[in-house]
Amino acid sequence: MRHHFFVTGTDTSVGKTVLSALLCAALDAVYWKPIQTGTLEGSDRMTVMRLAGIGSDRTIDEVYKFVPPVAPDLAARWAGVEIDVAKITLPPHLTNDWLVVEGAGGVLVPINQKQFILDMAVKLKLPVILASRSSLGTINHTLLTLAALHAAELPVHGVVLIGDQNRENRETIERFGHVRVIGEIPRLPNLHRTALIQVFMNHFDRSAFSQ
Ligand SMILES: Nc1ncnc2c1ncn2[C@@H]1O[C@H](COP(=O)(O)OP(=O)(O)OP(=O)(O)O)[C@@H](O)[C@H]1O
Ligand SMILES: [Mg+2]
Repeated sequence: MRHHFFVTGTDTSVGKTVLSALLCAALDAVYWKPIQTGTLEGSDRMTVMRLAGIGSDRTIDEVYKFVPPVAPDLAARWAGVEIDVAKITLPPHLTNDWLVVEGAGGVLVPINQKQFILDMAVKLKLPVILASRSSLGTINHTLLTLAALHAAELPVHGVVLIGDQNRENRETIERFGHVRVIGEIPRLPNLHRTALIQVFMNHFDRSAFSQ
């Protein structure tokens, strides 16, 4: 069976889009970012298409898009819109595809006056892949995010560490977070499809993505 995942991160700019592009390239997955802010600088969907070398037919339209590069709830309020999680529903035709859904920022980023990105993941009922930095500070951020995910009873498929390899941090996260680190993405001098697939082959537990 092919799987659908929700990719979240410990923070904004941690590498969720790069991880999503890697999964799209390696698994031929479909990509979806339901809520995108900061559209003047482009979109994560366009970045994934470029990095993974996939066409727009392997992506799904955003549900909410806002120009200002701020948190979704603020961008929506400025636009006079309220983000309604009920409107963010999985497209029905994807049961035979791998699907990667990217959140925005981290799990406690507000999307309206009552709800967080976490509530979008709960609504979609998808197992989570957590993108975390490998470097100093990651243990606290990663364990706090995992605590929020566990409290919401969301299954965590695994953690992916981004940056220079750090075996001690990896082991600590696995021990205290009760999770598996299923992949590592080193700093890449050039981000492109071939490099990302190579990282998947060499630095990911491919059994975590077996069909
Ligand atoms: N492994 C890597 N090697 C080199 N550059 C990376 C790597 N991972 C991420 N980056 C760079 O770091 C920046 C942030 O990464 P990315 O856009 O994937 O973060 P994000 O978590 O998706 O951010 P956002 O919260 O805005 O969606 C980008 O410029 C990206 O190219
Ligand atoms: Mg992103």
